[in-house]
Order: sequence, then C-alpha cells, then structure tokens
Amino acid sequence: MNPKNDTTSLPPNAVIGIVGGGQLGRMSAIAAAQLGFRTHVLAATQDEPAVQVSHSATIGSHSDPATLRAFAEAVDVVTFEFENVSADGLDLLSSIRPVRPSGAILRISQDRAQEKTFLGSVDVDVAPWRLVTDEASLHEVAEALGYPFILKTTRLGYDGKGQRRVMKPEDLVAAFDALEPKPLVAEGMIDFGMEVSVMVARGVHGTVRCFDVTENRHVNGILDLSLAPARLDPEVAQNAQDMARRIAEGLDLVGLLGVEMFVGRDGRLLVNEIAPRPHNSGHWTMDACPVDQFAMHVRAVTGLPLPEPVRHSDAVMKNLIGPDDMALWPEIIAAPRLIPHLYGKAQARPGRKMGHVNVIFPRGSLPGEFGVEAALKPLAPG
Ligand SMILES: Nc1ncnc2c1ncn2[C@@H]1O[C@H](COP(=O)(O)OP(=O)(O)O)[C@@H](O)[C@H]1O
Ligand SMILES: [Mg+2]
Repeated sequence: MNPKNDTTSLPPNAVIGIVGGGQLGRMSAIAAAQLGFRTHVLAATQDEPAVQVSHSATIGSHSDPATLRAFAEAVDVVTFEFENVSADGLDLLSSIRPVRPSGAILRISQDRAQEKTFLGSVDVDVAPWRLVTDEASLHEVAEALGYPFILKTTRLGYDGKGQRRVMKPEDLVAAFDALEPKPLVAEGMIDFGMEVSVMVARGVHGTVRCFDVTENRHVNGILDLSLAPARLDPEVAQNAQDMARRIAEGLDLVGLLGVEMFVGRDGRLLVNEIAPRPHNSGHWTMDACPVDQFAMHVRAVTGLPLPEPVRHSDAVMKNLIGPDDMALWPEIIAAPRLIPHLYGKAQARPGRKMGHVNVIFPRGSLPGEFGVEAALKPLAPG
C-alpha cells in the first residue's frame, strides 16, 4: 500500500520519528511516551531538549541524505517539530516512511509567498502583500502598499527575526539590504485589535478538531503571553475556527497545525502565518485540556482517534525567556499556582525560550489585566 494513504493506527511501542530536537519535539516526545509510543529524534547534538527525553536519536544534519535515511529507517512514521527540511530531504523521507504532515504542506509553510497564495485559494484573507525580488520592484511595492509596511524574508524567519518595519522612504533600501535570503515579501502593516491563534488537528480519516481560540501578546517579536479563551465575540471566535478548518482541509493535513491571525478592530480576521506543528501559543492546553496539543499531534500522526478538545479550565501561559526570566526560577518553582515547564536548555541566552509557566483558573473565570498580573507573580507580563 502507498504509505501515504495508510489509515491504520500504530500500536503501542511503535516508534515516532521527530525531525528537530527543540522544545516542541521534547513536549511531543513526552506526550508520545504517555500514550505508549517510543520516539526517535533527529537532532544536531545529543544535548538537545527532545533528545533528553526520547528513547533514541540520530545525531547529524537534517540536510545530509545518509543521516535522513538512517533516521527514517529507524522509525514507523515521521513528523516534525522543525519545518525547514529541504525539498529533496522531504522527498527522501517520504520515499521511506509516511511523513505527517506531508512534505507538500511543509513546502508551503516554508515560504511566506506560497503560504499566502495557498491561503487565498481557500478563501482566507491575509494582509495586503507583494513579492519583492529586487531593488527595482521594491520601489513599486512601497508605492502600492504605502507606509508604514513590513518587509519579511520568505524563508527561515522565526520569533520576529527576518523582518523589518519600513516606516518611511529613507529606510527602504537599508531594510531591503539587511534581510536575507531574498526574495522578500512586503506586507501592509495591520492595525489589529488583538492577535489570536487556533490549533487545528486533522486525522488520517479526515476528522478535524480545533482547540479554543487563544489570545496572544508579543514583546520584541517573541510570544510573551497567551490567554485562553481569547476574549472575542463568539461569532468572531467561530469564524477563526472555521478558517482553521478550511486551511486543514485545503492542505489535506494529517497532524497538527497552528494558525496565527490578526483580529481587526471591526472583528475582521486576517491570517498572518501557519505552522504545521505544535505551536508556542498552544502550550496552555497542557494544563487546561485532558488531550493537549502535543497528545493531539501524536494521535493525529499515529492514526489514533482524535477526541473533541475539552477545555476544563481557563488558562494563561507566560514564556520564560533568556537569563532575566530564569533568574526568577527559584521563586517560580516555589509559587503554588504556577505550573512550570522547563525545556532542558543548558544556556539562557537573551531572547531564547527556556520554558513556560501555565496558570489555570476555573472555566469562565479568566481574570482581567490586573488579575493576570497578580496570578503570574513573580513574573511580570511584558
Ligand atoms: N503585517 C503585520 N502587521 C502588523 N504586525 C505584524 C505584521 N506581521 C507581523 N507582525 C507582528 O510581528 C509578529 C511576528 O511576525 P510573524 O510574521 O508571525 O513572524 P515570525 O515567523 O517571526 O513569527 C507578529 O506576531 C505580529 O505581532
Ligand atoms: Mg509568527
């Protein structure tokens, strides 16, 4: 049988191959172990967060064909916590084992221009945008979008890296020169009222499950705080979930995908980007849902049933970033209401995600700003 169409579920002790050794792989591996699976991680070093908690690992580069082959042959199904495997690498993996989500989905999500084109094709709105291939097109694009706008690399951006705000014509060329690799996309700056995200899972039989919409706050381009449920009009929240469903179905997703959106002041939704893997803004589910995003990911890629997501509590998630937040660790682990999750990273460099904390509240009692601030002490929301 074509492994792509295999809808049988994997038995206990089957091996899930995870490409990437970071925290998303670590938390997926923990969820996999809880469901009786083994995990085998492809990572660059033995000390990475996911390798620390997995059954076994292939240590090497995701761009080396021999390494990819050895990894795929050691596992029953391949999934990702890291999206930037080359097209050739994805083809190689798919020739050996089922790859979930598929290589085609990864290719779309690796490239902001392809991603936006796909989103348009499933009737999902995005910010006004243009592809910028060279300096000549840059000026035309600036004229068309108007100032201010944002220039982003089409590939390899994360945590606000790989993008520049262009406030005025004098900044244009410097921003273009500073961003690599080319081409770039230029996006109109959206004056949003709120940023939200939806985690959506789709199984081998086409069952789609959406978690409740999450409200997200970024500081310096990095996610700082998530609140669940997002404080939205129910109709807008339903629209956000419907969009996530259209995206999952349009991609023929098998796995989990995060959809980041801007909510306009009039309630209009624009999708910012998609990520075909567990997402930082879904970490609150770990302590507020019986089946969290990582368990849902593992269930989707192994062909297990996907239960309706149940949120038994409201939740706030705060990232622990760099040495400043880690300096508070002794107080964090002593605090009775903070639920800590640390990623096992040896060094706390500035801007590096070291862990997160969740705080849960009885369903329906998510507090306002001051309550959130008080609940997070000793941490201060950014
Ligand atoms: N077009 C835009 N208008 C306004 N803010 C934006 C826009 N694009 C990005 N941002 C802000 O920058 C953050 C990071 O941008 P994003 O495109 O999601 O890149 P990354 O891949 O780094 O997450 C967003 O979450 C949002 O806060
Ligand atoms: Mg983003």
